[in-house]
Amino acid sequence: MTTSKILIVDDEPDILELLQESFEDAGYYVITALNGLEALSLLEHEQPDIILSDNRMPGMSGIELMEEIRKNYPDSIRLLMTGYADLNIAIEAINRGWVYKFITKPFKMEEILIAIRRALEFYEIVRQKKMLEAQIIQQNQILEKRVIERTHELQHATEELESKNSVLLKQKEEIRRLYSQLQRSYLGTITSLYFALEAKDQYTRGHSERVFHYSLHMGKELDLNLEEMVYLKYAALLHDLGKIGIPDSILLKPGKLTPDEYATIQNHSSVGASILDPIQFLCQVKEIIRHHHEHYDGNGYPDGLTANNIRIQGRIIAVADAFDAMRSDRPYRKARTREKALQELQKYAGKQFCPECVEAFNRVISEVGDFYDDPTLEKQYAEELQFMQYEMPGMQEIFSFSKKRELPEPV
Ligand SMILES: [Fe+2]
Repeated sequence: MTTSKILIVDDEPDILELLQESFEDAGYYVITALNGLEALSLLEHEQPDIILSDNRMPGMSGIELMEEIRKNYPDSIRLLMTGYADLNIAIEAINRGWVYKFITKPFKMEEILIAIRRALEFYEIVRQKKMLEAQIIQQNQILEKRVIERTHELQHATEELESKNSVLLKQKEEIRRLYSQLQRSYLGTITSLYFALEAKDQYTRGHSERVFHYSLHMGKELDLNLEEMVYLKYAALLHDLGKIGIPDSILLKPGKLTPDEYATIQNHSSVGASILDPIQFLCQVKEIIRHHHEHYDGNGYPDGLTANNIRIQGRIIAVADAFDAMRSDRPYRKARTREKALQELQKYAGKQFCPECVEAFNRVISEVGDFYDDPTLEKQYAEELQFMQYEMPGMQEIFSFSKKRELPEPV
């Protein structure tokens, strides 16, 4: 602990000496001045902790000295010794902040020492408080600076992220667009190939288109939802896609097929499904095509599925497909009449065909008619389907012939 330094100012040398001895005995370091000017001169190179001054002195009074000291050394501890006659002036000096405390004369040395000690304690508290406040201000400034720096960093990082995110979103959108374009282009190629193949066979020419239209009418009769209708559309049109892989010698054979040749023909449903493998958005269509020759009673191919285990679209296409096949001439047999073909469907309802689908088909034929009985029907639909040979159209274009219902684009 450092020794506190006290400056005593008094024009009476005896009192000055008495006070100096007492303070030094109490452990303080003491410097003295006989008047105000001398005290101010001392303060130019000394820094006392306490200044104790008499009030009544020739020249500069103690209060004037304290006022002067306060201007230049506001943190100094200032005590004034004064007689009763000057009490009012001394109290005003305290109120104005010029002095910390006054000591009335005559004084007792113990009182002065107590006053000095308390003043030192008080100012030590004040000093520490100021020091803490300064530290808090400094820390706050450091923190504030860090907050500003960090905020700038975060703003910069956020802007960078937003910028990267925007680029990524654009890239993602472009990839999605290109992927969709690729899928449609692939589907368009397959469709064109399929139509080219179908055109080779005069007996089955137009078969897929007719199955397509019968199936869509049946789908509406059976109240399929929009998504189911989308899959039905593609599957009906491409249901015999697998025939691309069958040699002409078998596909166009005029006579009866051997068991091996028949087995090759039967492969077309699974081959058709595998051709669609790369087109992700047609994965459900692929399943329908695979199962368009399943029988309601489980005796069909390739997986022997039964009843509702066969997708509704597969069951619909099976009925439309069989009807159109029976209604057309084949190298090995003549076409059946509409009534005969409908009777066959009825006969095999619940066996080969879904009974509900056969009922729906009967309603469609009654309402819409039969392509073979009404040649204008085929012409009307063929015009609407023409563009499909070059590109895959959207749903609304496909269904444009129908005034009953609007359908969305496929996803
Ligand atoms: Fe088929």
